[in-house]
Amino acid sequence: MIKEKVQNELNKQINAEIYSSYLYLSMSAYFESTSMAGFANWMRVQAKEELAHAMKFYDYIKERGGRILLHSIDAPPKEWSSALAAFKDVYKHEQKVTAMINELVDLAIEEKDHATNNFLQWFVTEQVEEEASADEIVQKLKIVGSTGSGLLMLDRELAQRVFTPESTIE
Ligand code: FEO
Repeated sequence: MIKEKVQNELNKQINAEIYSSYLYLSMSAYFESTSMAGFANWMRVQAKEELAHAMKFYDYIKERGGRILLHSIDAPPKEWSSALAAFKDVYKHEQKVTAMINELVDLAIEEKDHATNNFLQWFVTEQVEEEASADEIVQKLKIVGSTGSGLLMLDRELAQRVFTPESTIE
């Protein structure tokens, strides 16, 4: 049985992951509105990944005999000034999520909850990847600038991303 304090913090993380999904879906909608279908696709896949992250927390609380409690989801921003501005926000947001995961690990250690600590290690690794992939696109966008053929090439590259549920399980 999971301790109530740990359960409550994991429930908050379900909310944070669903908010992440909502944020990236909003970014996907923004890119649709600017006719950047590849960027929109990348964000849509990212939104699905975040929902899968939320469900990992959901299933974990359930497995440990805890109570899943869903909280309200904040509205995400709707507009960005450019693709670069949106991806800078992705990077910033992922850094925030990394800090949240690290705080959960600290709590698990403090509470001597080894199972939760072990569960969270998947997210520790995932966050390294999440930050790296966002930063990579930020760097590419800085190189190509906000207009021209470079941006269209990048849009074509990001159109290739597909959602693979297995990649979120490992
Ligand atoms: Fe679930 Fe992008 O952190």
